[in-house]
Amino acid sequence: MQSALNIIGEELILVEQQFRKDLESDVPLIRKVGEYVLSSGGKRVRPALLLLSARLCGYSGDKAVPLASVVEFIHTATLLHDDVVDSATLRRGIASANTLWGNEASVLVGDFLFSKSFSLMVGVGSLDILRIFSEATTIIAEGEVMQLLCTGELDLAEDRYIGVVRSKTAILMSAACEAGAVLGGVSPEKQQALANFGMDLGIAFQLMDDTLDYIATEEEFGKSIGHDLEEGKITLPLIHTLRQCNEDEKYAIEAVIDKDEMSLDEFRHVSGLVKRYGGIEYTIDSARRYISNCVSHLEPFEAGIVRDAMLRLADYVVTRSK
Ligand code: IPE
Ligand code: IPE
Ligand code: MG
Ligand code: MG
Repeated sequence: MQSALNIIGEELILVEQQFRKDLESDVPLIRKVGEYVLSSGGKRVRPALLLLSARLCGYSGDKAVPLASVVEFIHTATLLHDDVVDSATLRRGIASANTLWGNEASVLVGDFLFSKSFSLMVGVGSLDILRIFSEATTIIAEGEVMQLLCTGELDLAEDRYIGVVRSKTAILMSAACEAGAVLGGVSPEKQQALANFGMDLGIAFQLMDDTLDYIATEEEFGKSIGHDLEEGKITLPLIHTLRQCNEDEKYAIEAVIDKDEMSLDEFRHVSGLVKRYGGIEYTIDSARRYISNCVSHLEPFEAGIVRDAMLRLADYVVTRSK
């Protein structure tokens, strides 16, 4: 990841300064919650995608940094809301905002960040970019609602799951890449190619996240392990397992999903089945296929250090442990 980011290191520092400035508000709690989440060490994948994509398209103007800050603002807003929806207690290795300040404050500060993102984008002055991010945020909301409706659905089909993943996660990465292309003023074909790159990278990113929810360590991942299962989220490792296992095993999984709380033994039992039936390999293989599509999407672009950095970032997505 670090080697992929070296070439945009200086801009990423400016992005950090920018969103501290953008957090300005007369209401102290907004600054407090906002600073807490934004300073807690996110990976900054979405700003990196925007900056690299703009560079790849030959852009060297002053709008990439403020836009990269905006995309992290949008991401942060979705995390604040998502942790309320998912009853998450841990984010980036520390207590989630909802744990410290409650659901109300998390939802409202998330709203502030969303609204602020759009006023900052108006400042950037591109109607195309405003359209890309307004569509993306609408789709994210749809994705989160779709996921809510799929909760506990034991026979959730793989394509519906991928539909949720596209909407809740991949669309923002796609939008970040596409916005970079718009800044660079490239052809519609190249703009689409970068949108596709971000989409496939984003799908792979979420597939790996759903894998890590079964196999990571809490210290490294920074989020609670087994939380998807506890919340009744049927993700690809489990979808694959449910297709392979016998009726008794399916009932045992169902019983764990239906419970409000899950014991460590129950998690170990289900994650044992997921590993035994190849749910982890299946999901990682699928993520790898999306990443190999990413490589093809970059073919129309000039070979060089920027394209290499984007390919390294794509590679990082399927090798990450946090
Ligand atoms: C978390 O995204 C939400 C998902 C899409 C899985 P990241 O893993 O990019 O979160 P941070 O910003 O690095 O914490
Ligand atoms: C990620 O949702 C997508 C959004 C935040 C919109 P998840 O619920 O799968 O991600 P984590 O595990 O909370 O980071
Ligand atoms: Mg969540
Ligand atoms: Mg969620």
